[in-house]
Amino acid sequence: MLNLSNVKVDIQGSRILNGITLSVGAGELVCLVGRNGAGKTTTFRSIMGYRKIKSGEITFDGLDLTAMQTWQIAQSGIGFSPEESEVYADLTVAENIELSTWTRPKGRPAEQRIEEAYQVFPKLRQYLARGGAELSGGERKMVSIARALTLDPQLLLLDEPFEGLSPAIIPVIAEGVASIRAMGKGVLMAESNVHHIPDYVDRIYVLERGELMFSGTLTEAHRDRDVMRVIAGEVEAAS
Ligand SMILES: Nc1ncnc2c1ncn2[C@@H]1O[C@H](COP(=O)(O)OP(=O)(O)OP(=O)(O)O)[C@@H](O)[C@H]1O
Ligand SMILES: [Mg+2]
Repeated sequence: MLNLSNVKVDIQGSRILNGITLSVGAGELVCLVGRNGAGKTTTFRSIMGYRKIKSGEITFDGLDLTAMQTWQIAQSGIGFSPEESEVYADLTVAENIELSTWTRPKGRPAEQRIEEAYQVFPKLRQYLARGGAELSGGERKMVSIARALTLDPQLLLLDEPFEGLSPAIIPVIAEGVASIRAMGKGVLMAESNVHHIPDYVDRIYVLERGELMFSGTLTEAHRDRDVMRVIAGEVEAAS
């Protein structure tokens, strides 16, 4: 479905991504793991067309995404929930979530898509009339993911969905990710903490300083000392 092949990205003369090759198949959950500054967000921004790539290929169902505008990429069926959950302060929670059905009217009926988003995060039903400015970090994250879902994407990009959230809310988001997966949508999730990776992940890619140092299953990653040193710290790798 999504394929990146040898993608290189330069920012202000520095090589930030140096040959990223990865793929996400239909209905797969794939994690891109790496420390702060490794290049996870840059990878997502390149997929979404916010950033021009220097060389390489990015395709989605055979479409060349590098030749498309961000709105066309979204309309082709890729939803994106950025690291800093974008919630419009002047809109209610319900309006924030419905927004994607206005921008992508094609596909399944809006009501069906909206209902599906609330099934993923049932808690949101309690806040429908609340303003976007009056939400906690966890609520903002749910709204951001729910909005990406009402686009009716075949693939969802989640950039560090657990980052900065309180321990109490993390399981709620994790359950949401599990039900998105159960709907048969592909998910590419960026994560810096190996403990946040669901154990049912199909494949992980480990990014270090703009280069892929590993691709394989989570079990294989746990057996690789070099990989664990990067994504779980020295202490754990030694134990
Ligand atoms: N607009 C920019 N201008 C200059 N440097 C940038 C810009 N965006 C990203 N970078 C640099 O590119 C590198 C990769 O950043 P990126 O945000 O992709 O990392 P990340 O893996 O998402 O990190 P984090 O876990 O902190 O979100 C970093 O060294 C960062 O400083
Ligand atoms: Mg990031």
